[in-house]
Amino acid sequence: MKAIVYHEYGSPDVLKLEEVQKPTPADNQLLIKVYAASLNRSDWEGLTGKPLYARIGGLIKPNNKILGSDSAGIVEAVGKDVKQFKPGDEVFGLMLNYGGGFAEYACKSEKALALKPAGMTFEQAAAIPQAAFIALQGIREKGQVQAGQKVLINGAGGGAGTFAIQLAKLAGAEVTGVDNAEKLDFMRSLGADHVIDYTKEDFTKNGHQYDLILDVIADRSVFAYQRALKPNGSYFMAGGSVATIFQMLLLGPWIKRTTGKIIRLLLVQTDSKDLVYITELIESGKVVPVIDRRYTLSETAEALRYLGEGHAKGKVVIIMK
Ligand SMILES: NC(=O)c1ccc[n+]([C@@H]2O[C@H](COP(=O)([O-])OP(=O)(O)OC[C@H]3O[C@@H](n4cnc5c(N)ncnc54)[C@H](OP(=O)(O)O)[C@@H]3O)[C@@H](O)[C@H]2O)c1
Repeated sequence: MKAIVYHEYGSPDVLKLEEVQKPTPADNQLLIKVYAASLNRSDWEGLTGKPLYARIGGLIKPNNKILGSDSAGIVEAVGKDVKQFKPGDEVFGLMLNYGGGFAEYACKSEKALALKPAGMTFEQAAAIPQAAFIALQGIREKGQVQAGQKVLINGAGGGAGTFAIQLAKLAGAEVTGVDNAEKLDFMRSLGADHVIDYTKEDFTKNGHQYDLILDVIADRSVFAYQRALKPNGSYFMAGGSVATIFQMLLLGPWIKRTTGKIIRLLLVQTDSKDLVYITELIESGKVVPVIDRRYTLSETAEALRYLGEGHAKGKVVIIMK
């Protein structure tokens, strides 16, 4: 099969379209013929090897040679322990190791997989998994957003952020979106009540405080985040620098004891029930998966460059031809 392969960390130039062995599903896996895949910042991090946590699967060189966390397609074969799906089913979901999706075929576990509704295109379905998991858990499940609360989403113009804005608005919150100047109108169009250009204003220094902050791109000190939280407010970090992660692990519990404010890492759980829940919201028109650009598999390097250089408004999708 054709796949986008890389053998060293680096820029999109290290990605090559190669002919590789078609994967064989394990007993608990399904073999899926991929129709569409979507890009996430985790792919950019896996490509560049930065931040350092992106090298968990290989400190010097990537062990998993194919990037791609999210895809949608048709089940071609199932392992003997697979119970919920059968060949011919149209499905979408997340690869549990966050890799293997930028290929004509992928093996997935049924754990983070759901049936694609007939009315949803493969590209819409592929745009959902990782971004929706982060947004649902950051805003609803862990964030427990309530109507009337002030919510700030840092990195709100990207994949997870576009779902997070919509979910927070749906819950009746007053939403502030933070991203670069190119994305301010875009965040407003999704429902953000207030927008901040992070290159001009630091949301932790402007005197405003929030009940809930979801951060997909954290790089400040925990004391800055504490300052931006109301009493009993909560801050969840989905992605960002390793230094901030260490601070959070070391100082988060102490901040909770001394101030009552929660400052924590969001450890995203990959459960099909979240895919089913978000699919229902999308089918009822309450949430929209926002696709900025579409590329073919052979154009994956260009697609990742577009995301990595920070132009993507919402999701970027690879369509198989
Ligand atoms: N915790 C977990 O269990 C878990 C699981 C999966 C993924 N993740 C992580 O969650 C994150 C998800 O990100 P995503 O896919 O939504 O990323 P994305 O689509 O790239 O969106 C990130 C947005 O943040 C903007 N940005 C960059 N620097 C910023 C700054 N200093 N302040 C505010 N905004 C800034 C980017 O725009 P520009 O760059 O154009 O400025 C972009 O619009 C990734 O880091 C991923 O590794 C965590």
